[in-house]
Order: sequence, then structure tokens, then C-alpha cells
Amino acid sequence: MRICIGSDHAGFDLKEAVKAHLLSLGHEVEDAGTHDPGASVDYPDYGNLVGSNVLAGLGDLGIVICGTGIGISIAANKVRGVRAALCTDPYMARMARAHNNANVLAMGGRVVGVGLALEIVDAFLTTPFEGGRHGLRVEKIESQI
Ligand code: RB5
Repeated sequence: MRICIGSDHAGFDLKEAVKAHLLSLGHEVEDAGTHDPGASVDYPDYGNLVGSNVLAGLGDLGIVICGTGIGISIAANKVRGVRAALCTDPYMARMARAHNNANVLAMGGRVVGVGLALEIVDAFLTTPFEGGRHGLRVEKIESQI
């Protein structure tokens, strides 16, 4: 798979850990930054960038990380067609894919440790969308302005 990834400074360390994990699994990674953990940056820029990259087809799925995961998930969700899900455990990640067809995973670098984050990533990447009644609901989301 090809994964679009991005974070602000608060999510940088976890982004690097997730990126290394993805590469070790044989995935390709499109890293939108930030690349400098020492510089304070604005999470909306990276949420928007990763969301736009996924929608543009630069990746199959996206992963966004800030301090809490909240701000960057809100920003990613402003991109029409993005369904970003903030997950703090693997169950949420599985359900985000299975029921919501989430195309972007959001996490908080100040909330989850690396071990848990990688389990969340694995659950997100390996769970397919169930479709059916869930498909109708996702279509309803997409029809809302
Ligand atoms: C940055 O300090 C922090 O506000 C940001 O990473 C994020 O947690 C916002 O939602």
C-alpha cells in the first residue's frame, strides 16, 4: 500500500516511528512533513495537505498526527471526501475502517505510546470496509454539505 502521512511538531516523533514501521512492512510512504521537530508549525496545514494528498490519489490511506490528534483530524475532515477518524485503540481503528470507511487515521503523539500506536496502525491498514448498510450511511455523510 501507499500511505500519505503528516504531522505537526508535536506529532513528529510518532510520525517517524509510524513511518519506519510502514516501511518495514513494505509499504510506500508519502511524507508531507513536518520534517523539523524543532520548529513550531500549524497542524491545520498538515491535516489539509495529507487529506488533499489522499484525495488526489497519492496514497491509498492517510495518517495524521498532532499532539492530541484532535486538531489535525478536524483539519483533515475539512477536505471534502476525507473521513478522518481519531483513534486511541485498535478497536476504534478497526471500526473506523469496517463501518465508516475512514480513509485517514488520526492519532495523538502526546496521547498514545509508540507500541499502541503501531497496533492502531496495523488494525487500520488491515481491516476492510464492510459496505452494505454501512455503505449507505457513508454515502449519506458524503451527500451532506
Ligand atoms: C500543538 O501544541 C498542539 O496544540 C497540537 O499538536 C494539537 O494537539 C492540536 O490539536
